[in-house]
Amino acid sequence: MVRKIRKACVIGSGVMGSGIAAHLANVGIPVLLLDIVPKDLTPEEKEKGLTLQDKAVRNRIAETNKAKLLKQKPAPLTKKENLELIEAGNLEDDLPRIREADWIIEAVVENLEVKRSVFEKVDRYRRPGSIVSSNTSGISVRQMAEGRSEDFKRHFLGTHFFNPPRYLKLLEIIPAEETDPEVTETMKTFAEDVLGKGVVIAKDTPNFIANRIGTYGLLVTVREMVKGGYSVGEVDSVTGPLIGRPKSATFRTLDVVGLDTFVHVANNVYHQVEGEEKEVFKVPDFVLKMLEKGWLGAKSGQGFYLKKGKEIFELD
Ligand code: NAI
Repeated sequence: MVRKIRKACVIGSGVMGSGIAAHLANVGIPVLLLDIVPKDLTPEEKEKGLTLQDKAVRNRIAETNKAKLLKQKPAPLTKKENLELIEAGNLEDDLPRIREADWIIEAVVENLEVKRSVFEKVDRYRRPGSIVSSNTSGISVRQMAEGRSEDFKRHFLGTHFFNPPRYLKLLEIIPAEETDPEVTETMKTFAEDVLGKGVVIAKDTPNFIANRIGTYGLLVTVREMVKGGYSVGEVDSVTGPLIGRPKSATFRTLDVVGLDTFVHVANNVYHQVEGEEKEVFKVPDFVLKMLEKGWLGAKSGQGFYLKKGKEIFELD
Protein backbone atom coordinates (compact mmCIF):
# COMPACT_ATOMS: atom_id res chain seq x y z
CA MET A 1 0.00 0.00 0.00
CA VAL A 2 1.41 3.40 -0.92
CA ARG A 3 0.60 6.08 1.64
CA LYS A 4 -0.30 9.71 1.10
CA ILE A 5 2.03 12.50 2.17
CA ARG A 6 -0.09 15.53 3.02
CA LYS A 7 2.14 17.46 5.40
CA ALA A 8 5.89 17.58 5.90
CA CYS A 9 8.35 18.82 8.47
CA VAL A 10 11.89 19.83 7.51
CA ILE A 11 14.45 20.08 10.31
CA GLY A 12 17.41 22.33 9.47
CA SER A 13 16.59 25.36 7.35
CA GLY A 14 19.96 26.01 5.67
CA VAL A 15 20.91 25.68 2.01
CA MET A 16 19.19 22.30 1.57
CA GLY A 17 16.44 22.36 4.20
CA SER A 18 14.96 25.61 2.91
CA GLY A 19 15.32 24.43 -0.70
CA ILE A 20 13.56 21.13 0.05
CA ALA A 21 10.79 23.01 1.90
CA ALA A 22 10.35 25.24 -1.17
CA HIS A 23 10.19 22.24 -3.48
CA LEU A 24 7.49 20.66 -1.32
CA ALA A 25 5.54 23.95 -1.19
CA ASN A 26 5.76 24.13 -4.99
CA VAL A 27 3.74 20.90 -5.19
CA GLY A 28 1.20 22.16 -2.63
CA ILE A 29 2.46 20.40 0.49
CA PRO A 30 2.44 22.48 3.71
CA VAL A 31 5.78 22.39 5.52
CA LEU A 32 6.85 23.09 9.07
CA LEU A 33 10.46 24.33 8.77
CA LEU A 34 12.42 24.08 12.03
CA ASP A 35 15.88 25.22 13.10
CA ILE A 36 17.74 25.76 16.34
CA VAL A 37 17.08 28.57 18.82
CA PRO A 38 19.83 31.24 18.54
CA LYS A 39 22.21 31.50 21.49
CA ASP A 40 22.67 35.29 21.29
CA LEU A 41 20.65 38.35 20.37
CA THR A 42 21.65 40.38 17.30
CA PRO A 43 22.43 44.11 17.84
CA GLU A 44 19.08 44.94 16.15
CA GLU A 45 17.19 42.60 18.49
CA LYS A 46 18.91 44.20 21.50
CA GLU A 47 17.97 47.66 20.24
CA LYS A 48 14.33 46.58 19.95
CA GLY A 49 14.43 45.35 23.57
CA LEU A 50 13.78 41.73 22.58
CA THR A 51 14.94 38.83 24.78
CA LEU A 52 15.97 35.24 24.06
CA GLN A 53 12.46 34.20 25.15
CA ASP A 54 10.70 36.16 22.38
CA LYS A 55 9.20 34.09 19.58
CA ALA A 56 10.69 36.39 16.91
CA VAL A 57 14.16 35.65 18.29
CA ARG A 58 13.53 31.93 18.89
CA ASN A 59 12.31 31.44 15.30
CA ARG A 60 14.83 33.82 13.77
CA ILE A 61 17.09 31.28 12.02
CA ALA A 62 14.28 29.44 10.24
CA GLU A 63 12.42 32.73 9.51
CA THR A 64 15.55 34.32 8.01
CA ASN A 65 16.29 31.28 5.86
CA LYS A 66 12.65 31.13 4.77
CA ALA A 67 12.76 34.82 3.73
CA LYS A 68 15.92 34.17 1.68
CA LEU A 69 13.88 31.89 -0.59
CA LEU A 70 12.37 34.99 -2.22
CA LYS A 71 15.79 36.38 -3.11
CA GLN A 72 17.71 33.31 -4.28
CA LYS A 73 18.60 32.70 -7.90
CA PRO A 74 17.64 30.47 -9.59
CA ALA A 75 14.30 30.90 -7.80
CA PRO A 76 13.52 27.97 -5.44
CA LEU A 77 9.79 28.81 -5.53
CA THR A 78 7.65 28.48 -8.67
CA LYS A 79 5.55 31.40 -7.38
CA LYS A 80 6.12 33.62 -4.39
CA GLU A 81 2.72 32.78 -2.82
CA ASN A 82 4.06 29.25 -2.19
CA LEU A 83 6.05 30.77 0.68
CA GLU A 84 2.79 30.89 2.63
CA LEU A 85 2.79 27.08 2.77
CA ILE A 86 6.04 27.17 4.74
CA GLU A 87 5.76 27.83 8.47
CA ALA A 88 9.01 28.63 10.27
CA GLY A 89 9.60 27.51 13.85
CA ASN A 90 12.21 26.18 16.24
CA LEU A 91 13.20 22.74 17.37
CA GLU A 92 12.55 23.41 21.08
CA ASP A 93 9.06 24.92 21.13
CA ASP A 94 7.61 23.19 18.07
CA LEU A 95 8.79 19.61 18.58
CA PRO A 96 5.32 18.32 19.61
CA ARG A 97 4.02 19.60 16.26
CA ILE A 98 6.08 17.10 14.30
CA ARG A 99 3.18 14.72 15.07
CA GLU A 100 1.29 16.54 12.32
CA ALA A 101 3.79 15.48 9.66
CA ASP A 102 3.48 12.42 7.42
CA TRP A 103 7.13 12.90 6.36
CA ILE A 104 9.90 14.38 8.52
CA ILE A 105 13.09 15.30 6.65
CA GLU A 106 16.28 16.04 8.54
CA ALA A 107 18.69 18.49 6.84
CA VAL A 108 20.95 19.68 9.68
CA VAL A 109 24.75 19.84 9.53
CA GLU A 110 26.60 16.82 8.17
CA ASN A 111 27.62 15.37 11.54
CA LEU A 112 26.56 11.96 12.84
CA GLU A 113 26.27 13.00 16.49
CA VAL A 114 24.20 16.12 15.71
CA LYS A 115 21.91 14.10 13.46
CA ARG A 116 21.54 11.35 16.07
CA SER A 117 20.52 13.88 18.72
CA VAL A 118 17.90 15.29 16.34
CA PHE A 119 16.54 11.78 15.63
CA GLU A 120 16.37 11.01 19.33
CA LYS A 121 13.98 13.97 19.69
CA VAL A 122 12.08 13.06 16.54
CA ASP A 123 11.60 9.50 17.83
CA ARG A 124 10.03 10.87 21.01
CA TYR A 125 7.54 13.17 19.31
CA ARG A 126 6.71 11.76 15.85
CA ARG A 127 3.46 9.96 15.09
CA PRO A 128 4.06 6.20 14.76
CA GLY A 129 3.90 5.29 11.08
CA SER A 130 5.20 8.63 9.85
CA ILE A 131 8.19 8.48 7.50
CA VAL A 132 11.50 9.96 8.68
CA SER A 133 14.42 10.59 6.35
CA SER A 134 17.84 12.19 6.33
CA ASN A 135 19.20 14.38 3.57
CA THR A 136 22.73 13.31 4.53
CA SER A 137 25.31 13.46 1.76
CA GLY A 138 26.82 10.17 2.81
CA ILE A 139 26.60 9.26 6.50
CA SER A 140 25.50 5.68 7.18
CA VAL A 141 21.70 5.42 7.45
CA ARG A 142 22.04 2.40 9.73
CA GLN A 143 24.27 4.32 12.16
CA MET A 144 21.91 7.30 12.26
CA ALA A 145 19.05 5.00 13.31
CA GLU A 146 21.02 3.15 16.01
CA GLY A 147 19.26 3.24 19.38
CA ARG A 148 15.93 4.36 17.91
CA SER A 149 12.56 2.59 18.35
CA GLU A 150 11.49 -0.29 16.11
CA ASP A 151 8.78 1.83 14.50
CA PHE A 152 11.30 4.59 13.79
CA LYS A 153 13.76 2.14 12.19
CA ARG A 154 11.06 0.62 9.97
CA HIS A 155 10.08 4.07 8.71
CA PHE A 156 13.58 5.56 8.37
CA LEU A 157 15.68 5.94 5.22
CA GLY A 158 18.00 8.33 3.41
CA THR A 159 16.52 10.76 0.88
CA HIS A 160 19.44 12.62 -0.64
CA PHE A 161 18.37 15.66 -2.65
CA PHE A 162 20.83 17.56 -4.81
CA ASN A 163 21.46 21.28 -4.76
CA PRO A 164 19.34 23.17 -5.75
CA PRO A 165 16.45 20.77 -4.94
CA ARG A 166 13.96 22.39 -7.31
CA TYR A 167 16.23 22.04 -10.32
CA LEU A 168 18.36 18.93 -9.88
CA LYS A 169 16.32 15.91 -10.80
CA LEU A 170 18.29 13.21 -9.03
CA LEU A 171 17.11 11.83 -5.70
CA GLU A 172 19.06 9.04 -4.06
CA ILE A 173 16.93 6.88 -1.79
CA ILE A 174 18.90 4.83 0.68
CA PRO A 175 17.03 2.17 2.64
CA ALA A 176 18.83 0.55 5.58
CA GLU A 177 18.45 -3.16 6.36
CA GLU A 178 15.59 -2.48 8.77
CA THR A 179 13.68 -0.11 6.48
CA ASP A 180 10.25 -1.50 5.56
CA PRO A 181 10.27 -2.08 1.74
CA GLU A 182 6.81 -0.51 1.61
CA VAL A 183 8.26 2.74 2.97
CA THR A 184 10.97 2.73 0.30
CA GLU A 185 8.31 2.11 -2.35
CA THR A 186 6.11 4.92 -1.00
CA MET A 187 9.03 7.35 -1.10
CA LYS A 188 10.06 6.32 -4.60
CA THR A 189 6.55 6.67 -6.00
CA PHE A 190 6.00 10.00 -4.24
CA ALA A 191 9.36 11.38 -5.38
CA GLU A 192 8.79 10.36 -8.99
CA ASP A 193 5.11 11.16 -9.35
CA VAL A 194 4.72 14.21 -7.10
CA LEU A 195 8.18 15.76 -6.79
CA GLY A 196 9.21 15.00 -10.38
CA LYS A 197 12.44 13.31 -9.36
CA GLY A 198 14.55 10.66 -11.04
CA VAL A 199 15.10 8.15 -8.26
CA VAL A 200 18.11 5.92 -7.77
CA ILE A 201 18.02 3.38 -4.96
CA ALA A 202 21.50 3.41 -3.42
CA LYS A 203 23.26 1.10 -0.98
CA ASP A 204 24.13 2.35 2.50
CA THR A 205 27.86 2.73 1.73
CA PRO A 206 29.98 5.87 2.52
CA ASN A 207 28.67 8.79 0.41
CA PHE A 208 26.28 6.45 -1.48
CA ILE A 209 26.75 6.73 -5.27
CA ALA A 210 26.73 10.30 -6.58
CA ASN A 211 28.87 11.86 -3.84
CA ARG A 212 31.36 9.00 -3.81
CA ILE A 213 32.03 9.67 -7.48
CA GLY A 214 31.49 13.45 -7.30
CA THR A 215 33.78 14.10 -4.31
CA TYR A 216 36.44 11.89 -5.89
CA GLY A 217 36.26 13.90 -9.12
CA LEU A 218 36.37 17.27 -7.35
CA LEU A 219 39.35 16.37 -5.17
CA VAL A 220 41.35 14.87 -8.04
CA THR A 221 40.68 18.03 -10.08
CA VAL A 222 41.81 20.31 -7.23
CA ARG A 223 44.98 18.27 -6.68
CA GLU A 224 45.86 18.28 -10.38
CA MET A 225 45.26 22.05 -10.48
CA VAL A 226 47.73 22.64 -7.67
CA LYS A 227 50.28 20.26 -9.27
CA GLY A 228 49.96 21.87 -12.67
CA GLY A 229 49.93 25.46 -11.38
CA TYR A 230 46.57 26.29 -12.97
CA SER A 231 44.16 28.93 -11.68
CA VAL A 232 40.64 28.52 -10.35
CA GLY A 233 39.34 30.40 -13.38
CA GLU A 234 41.20 28.16 -15.83
CA VAL A 235 39.93 24.99 -14.18
CA ASP A 236 36.39 26.32 -14.10
CA SER A 237 36.43 27.13 -17.83
CA VAL A 238 37.53 23.65 -18.79
CA THR A 239 35.27 21.85 -16.34
CA GLY A 240 32.31 24.14 -17.02
CA PRO A 241 31.41 26.44 -19.94
CA LEU A 242 33.98 25.07 -22.42
CA ILE A 243 32.57 21.57 -22.16
CA GLY A 244 28.99 22.81 -22.36
CA ARG A 245 28.24 22.68 -18.61
CA PRO A 246 28.05 26.37 -17.62
CA LYS A 247 26.55 25.64 -14.20
CA SER A 248 28.71 22.78 -13.01
CA ALA A 249 32.24 24.18 -13.11
CA THR A 250 34.41 22.77 -10.29
CA PHE A 251 34.84 25.78 -8.00
CA ARG A 252 31.46 27.32 -8.71
CA THR A 253 29.96 24.00 -7.63
CA LEU A 254 32.00 24.06 -4.41
CA ASP A 255 30.82 27.60 -3.65
CA VAL A 256 27.20 26.53 -4.14
CA VAL A 257 27.58 23.35 -2.06
CA GLY A 258 29.34 25.19 0.80
CA LEU A 259 32.94 24.45 1.74
CA ASP A 260 32.03 23.25 5.24
CA THR A 261 29.59 20.70 3.84
CA PHE A 262 32.11 19.62 1.19
CA VAL A 263 34.80 19.01 3.84
CA HIS A 264 32.38 16.98 6.00
CA VAL A 265 31.40 14.89 2.97
CA ALA A 266 35.02 14.25 1.90
CA ASN A 267 36.06 13.41 5.47
CA ASN A 268 33.21 10.95 5.76
CA VAL A 269 34.78 8.79 3.05
CA TYR A 270 38.36 9.58 4.14
CA HIS A 271 37.74 8.01 7.54
CA GLN A 272 36.20 4.87 6.06
CA VAL A 273 38.60 3.92 3.26
CA GLU A 274 42.14 2.61 3.17
CA GLY A 275 45.31 2.94 1.08
CA GLU A 276 45.48 4.95 -2.13
CA GLU A 277 41.82 5.89 -1.98
CA LYS A 278 42.41 7.56 1.39
CA GLU A 279 44.96 9.93 -0.18
CA VAL A 280 42.43 11.00 -2.80
CA PHE A 281 39.78 11.89 -0.21
CA LYS A 282 42.20 14.01 1.87
CA VAL A 283 41.05 17.65 1.74
CA PRO A 284 43.88 19.98 0.58
CA ASP A 285 45.26 22.40 3.19
CA PHE A 286 44.27 25.53 1.31
CA VAL A 287 40.59 24.50 1.44
CA LEU A 288 40.92 24.03 5.22
CA LYS A 289 42.52 27.51 5.46
CA MET A 290 39.56 29.01 3.62
CA LEU A 291 37.25 27.30 6.11
CA GLU A 292 39.19 28.76 9.04
CA LYS A 293 38.64 32.23 7.58
CA GLY A 294 34.90 31.55 7.33
CA TRP A 295 34.95 31.48 3.52
CA LEU A 296 32.14 28.96 3.12
CA GLY A 297 31.01 29.90 -0.40
CA ALA A 298 27.72 31.48 -1.43
CA LYS A 299 26.13 31.13 2.02
CA SER A 300 28.81 33.28 3.69
CA GLY A 301 29.18 35.67 0.73
CA GLN A 302 32.73 34.56 0.05
CA GLY A 303 34.28 31.40 -1.25
CA PHE A 304 36.36 30.93 -4.38
CA TYR A 305 34.45 33.80 -5.94
CA LEU A 306 33.42 37.20 -4.71
CA LYS A 307 29.70 37.89 -4.83
CA LYS A 308 29.99 39.30 -8.34
CA GLY A 309 31.78 36.20 -9.60
CA LYS A 310 35.30 37.60 -9.49
CA GLU A 311 37.97 35.06 -8.72
CA ILE A 312 39.62 35.71 -5.37
CA PHE A 313 41.68 32.63 -4.88
CA GLU A 314 45.27 32.73 -6.12
CA LEU A 315 47.89 30.04 -5.91
CA ASP A 316 51.05 31.09 -4.02
P1 NAI B 1 23.67 24.39 6.13
O1 NAI B 1 24.89 24.63 6.95
O2 NAI B 1 23.32 25.35 5.06
O3 NAI B 1 22.37 24.26 7.07
C1 NAI B 1 22.33 23.46 8.23
C2 NAI B 1 21.25 24.01 9.12
O4 NAI B 1 21.09 23.12 10.21
C3 NAI B 1 21.56 25.39 9.70
O5 NAI B 1 20.48 26.27 9.44
C4 NAI B 1 21.76 25.11 11.19
O6 NAI B 1 21.34 26.19 12.02
C5 NAI B 1 20.88 23.89 11.37
N1 NAI B 1 21.24 23.10 12.53
C6 NAI B 1 22.45 22.83 13.03
N2 NAI B 1 22.35 22.04 14.11
C7 NAI B 1 21.04 21.82 14.29
C8 NAI B 1 20.31 21.09 15.23
N3 NAI B 1 20.90 20.43 16.21
N4 NAI B 1 18.97 21.08 15.10
C9 NAI B 1 18.35 21.74 14.10
N5 NAI B 1 19.00 22.45 13.17
C10 NAI B 1 20.33 22.48 13.27
O7 NAI B 1 23.83 22.91 5.56
P2 NAI B 1 23.25 22.29 4.20
O8 NAI B 1 24.21 22.52 3.12
O9 NAI B 1 21.84 22.70 4.04
O10 NAI B 1 23.31 20.73 4.54
C11 NAI B 1 22.31 20.08 5.30
C12 NAI B 1 22.40 18.59 5.03
O11 NAI B 1 22.17 18.35 3.64
C13 NAI B 1 23.76 17.99 5.36
O12 NAI B 1 23.59 16.69 5.83
C14 NAI B 1 24.46 17.99 4.00
O13 NAI B 1 25.49 17.04 3.90
C15 NAI B 1 23.28 17.66 3.08
N6 NAI B 1 23.43 18.06 1.68
C16 NAI B 1 24.00 19.27 1.35
C17 NAI B 1 24.10 19.63 0.01
C18 NAI B 1 24.69 20.95 -0.40
O14 NAI B 1 24.94 21.14 -1.61
N7 NAI B 1 24.95 21.88 0.51
C19 NAI B 1 23.59 18.77 -1.06
C20 NAI B 1 22.93 17.56 -0.59
C21 NAI B 1 22.89 17.22 0.73
